[in-house]
Amino acid sequence: MKKLKKPLFVVFLCGLICLIGCANRTVSDSKPKLSLAKHFNGLFYLGAAVNENTILGMDSKSKKIINTQFNTITPENSLKWMFIQPEPNKFNFKAADKYVEMGLKNDMYIVGHALVWHSQLADFMQNIDNPKQMQQHFENHIQTLVSRFKGKIDAWDVVNEAFEEDGTLRQSVFYNNLGEAYIEKAFKLAHKMDPEANLIYNDYNVYKPEKRAGILNMVKQFIANGTKINGVGVQAHWDLKSPSLEVIEEIILDIHAAGVSVSFTELDISVLPSPWEMVGAEVSQNFSKFEGDPAMDPYPNGLPEAVQDQLAKRYQDIFNLFVKHSDKIERVTFWGVMDKHSWLNDWPIKGRTNYPLLFDRKYKPKTAYKRLLELKTN
Ligand code: G3I
Repeated sequence: MKKLKKPLFVVFLCGLICLIGCANRTVSDSKPKLSLAKHFNGLFYLGAAVNENTILGMDSKSKKIINTQFNTITPENSLKWMFIQPEPNKFNFKAADKYVEMGLKNDMYIVGHALVWHSQLADFMQNIDNPKQMQQHFENHIQTLVSRFKGKIDAWDVVNEAFEEDGTLRQSVFYNNLGEAYIEKAFKLAHKMDPEANLIYNDYNVYKPEKRAGILNMVKQFIANGTKINGVGVQAHWDLKSPSLEVIEEIILDIHAAGVSVSFTELDISVLPSPWEMVGAEVSQNFSKFEGDPAMDPYPNGLPEAVQDQLAKRYQDIFNLFVKHSDKIERVTFWGVMDKHSWLNDWPIKGRTNYPLLFDRKYKPKTAYKRLLELKTN
C-alpha cells in the first residue's frame, strides 16, 4: 500500500500532536463513517478521476465526495500533453499543481495521467516526422513533469493505449519516430526522474486475449531487462454485461502471473446500448449517425429502478471479485464522481444520458454505492 511519505519518527510525532489536537477537529475534516475508501481500506486504494472544474474549486460538491469517499485521485484531463505543454517548452502547470496540492492536502495516493499518449497531444506533436526532434520533446516532457512532481505523485500512467486490439503496437507518432523502444524508454526515464514512483502501463480492452498477451509479453520483457514497471492499468470502461466475471478474473490472474500489480484505472459501467461496431474506448471512433436516435438513448429523463438495480448488482459482483483478489490489486479508480460529468454522456454517441458512476446528477449516492458499502471485505 501507500509509501510513508515521511520518515516513521516524523509520522509518530505528527500522530502524537494530532492526538492532542484532535479534539478540536470538526467531523467534516475526517472521513465519515460511511466512506467507500474506509470500507475497502487495507484491500486496495479506491478513487476517482477529478475534472478540471473540481480541481479549480468550481465544484465543491464533487470535491467533498472525493475528499470523504476516496483515498486516491487521477486527473481526468489536467495532466495531458495538450494542456500541460500546448506549445514547445511552454508548460502550463496551473491546474496540475492544484490537483497535486489537493491530493497532498488530503493525504491521497496521487496518480499522474498520462506521460505518453497518442491522443490529446499538443498540435505541435501530432505530425512530427523527425526522430531527433521527437526524442528531444519526448524526453523533455517526461523529465519536466516527473521531476516537478517527484515525491508527490505516487504513480504514473507512463504510457497509455500503445497496443492495438490484436496485440500489435499502435503506429502512433511516438512509434513512427522512435520505434517500439519508445515505451521502455519512457519507463526508464520516468524511473530515473523519480525512483520512488510506481510506474504503470495503462490500456483499455485488456479483456481481449490477444491484446492482453501483447501487453504482458512487454511487461515480462521489461522485467527481464531490469526496467522498472509496477503494474498494468486496466481502464475498465465496461457495461452491464461485458466483460464477464470469469474474464475479469482471468485478467487479474494473468497480470498477477506476469509479476506486476493490477489497477482498475478508469472504471465506469455504461447502461446504454452501444453501437454494434464499437470496440473499446478507442476515442477516435465516430457514431454521429446514431445521435438523437431514441433507441440508443433510452433513459433521457431518469434511470428506471430495474436498471438502477442491474447496475448495483453489476458493481457488487465486480467488487466481490476485487475483494477476492485484493492481494493482486493496487487500486480501483472510478472514471468520474457523478453521472452528469461522465465522458460517457458524449461517447461513443454525443448528447446521451448515461448513468455509469456511483453518484447521480444531484450528487446523491445511488443504489450501487449503498450495495458496495454492504459488501463483506474480510
Ligand atoms: O478543454 C476544452 C475546452 O476548452 C473546450 O471549450 C471544450 C469544447 O470542445 O473541449 C475541452 O476539451 C475537452 C476535454 O475532454 C476537457 O474537458 C475535449 O473536447 C474532450 O474530448 C475531452 O474528453 C476527454 C477524453 O479523454 C479525450 O479523449 C474526457 O474528458 C476524458 O474522460 C477521457 O479520458 C480518457 C482517458 O484519459 C484515457 N482512457 C480513455 C478515456 C476516455 O476517452
